[in-house]
Amino acid sequence: MKILITGGAGFIGSHVVRLFVMKYPNYQIINLDALTYAGNLENLRDVEGAPNYRFVKGDIADQAFIDELFAREEPDAVIHLAAESHVDRSITDPMAFVKTNVIGTVNLLNAARNLWQPGGYAGHTFYHVSTDEVYGSLDFGPEMFTEDTAYDPRSPYSASKASSDHFVRAWHHTYGLPIKLSNCSNNYGPNHFPEKLIPLAIHRLRTGQPVPVYGKGENVRDWLFVKDHATAIDAVFHNGKLGDTYNIGGVNEWQNLKLIELLCDVVDEKTGQGPGTSRRLIKFVTDRAGHDMRYAIDSSKIMNELGWKPSVTFEQGLAQTVDWYLANEEWLNSVTSGAYQDYNTKQYAGR
Ligand code: NAD
Ligand code: TYD
Repeated sequence: MKILITGGAGFIGSHVVRLFVMKYPNYQIINLDALTYAGNLENLRDVEGAPNYRFVKGDIADQAFIDELFAREEPDAVIHLAAESHVDRSITDPMAFVKTNVIGTVNLLNAARNLWQPGGYAGHTFYHVSTDEVYGSLDFGPEMFTEDTAYDPRSPYSASKASSDHFVRAWHHTYGLPIKLSNCSNNYGPNHFPEKLIPLAIHRLRTGQPVPVYGKGENVRDWLFVKDHATAIDAVFHNGKLGDTYNIGGVNEWQNLKLIELLCDVVDEKTGQGPGTSRRLIKFVTDRAGHDMRYAIDSSKIMNELGWKPSVTFEQGLAQTVDWYLANEEWLNSVTSGAYQDYNTKQYAGR
């Protein structure tokens, strides 16, 4: 089977690519990525020489390029992760999110349909990876997002992802395209670009800079270790029902301030600083515009139907994550200085 994975040089995509390249030596994995600021081929150094792996640089918003790529490579399946993914960036530059997340997704849907429909859809899958943010914002109560929760996106990021989800389902209902979707909560772990809360905080604590907490720090997110998201994607891709959606989460809700305090304590412990040292760097800053209050996700469908569950507790995952960033200062320095872009240029030169 030849699988086109989009966005494989990003945070979650690189973990998915690694899992598939190593676990399925008989599959051919093509990683299609535009190498935006968030794409970093250093994330895949350990698999870049594998015989069943190839990287292709390209923009999913470029229709002619996508059509040509599908005609040339004839992938059997697509796992689509490429996206603009940061809410704060979507507030300052929403059009980039429309281009990649909406138009890019529709280009892929069209190309997959054009390639697969003539010979019949049997054996093909278009798997779209999405977010719990499409469901909107919850109050502080027991309610959770289920697969049946009505969409209510409230940021340009979540609106663009919601739109892409609707297009994916429309291609299934209208053209019969064999699709699967999953909507996952906030991921954390190695190789996370230090603009998102957890890697940003670790980077800033490590360099003695203030950690910005938006508003009062009372917003709640559910956190899942990125490698557990990758195993969930593996489970849905292989065993999920065509046409179905699976919610994925860590059953692990944290208020931002409590999470940052825990992270400060883990960093102090790992770096041998006195207790309370890092907490002094917490700084309350102006809130994000339209800041969603709470996300909570009910993962019982994927757990019951596909037997998936997270492999680590939050304490274990967070300890592993802090260990990884402290042991990989070079990666963080390369990302924060922009040097990783030189590595990207060398890696795709001539392809
Ligand atoms: P990321 O920003 O780390 O990586 C995105 C990747 O997509 C990058 O490698 C980037 O170069 C690539 N890309 C961006 N625009 C492109 C384009 N036009 N053409 C080709 N490639 C392009 O994102 P991530 O956090 O790894 O998220 C991956 C997917 O998972 C996204 O679809 C996101 O919506 C979804 N998701 C993320 C989270 C999370 O917590 N990070 C949670 C749930 C779902
Ligand atoms: P983020 O990692 O950007 O993910 P998302 O907005 O997609 O959930 O932010 C996680 C939470 O942390 C969110 O409530 C916003 C908040 N936050 C801060 O308080 N400070 C920060 O510097 C960042 C980046 C986020």
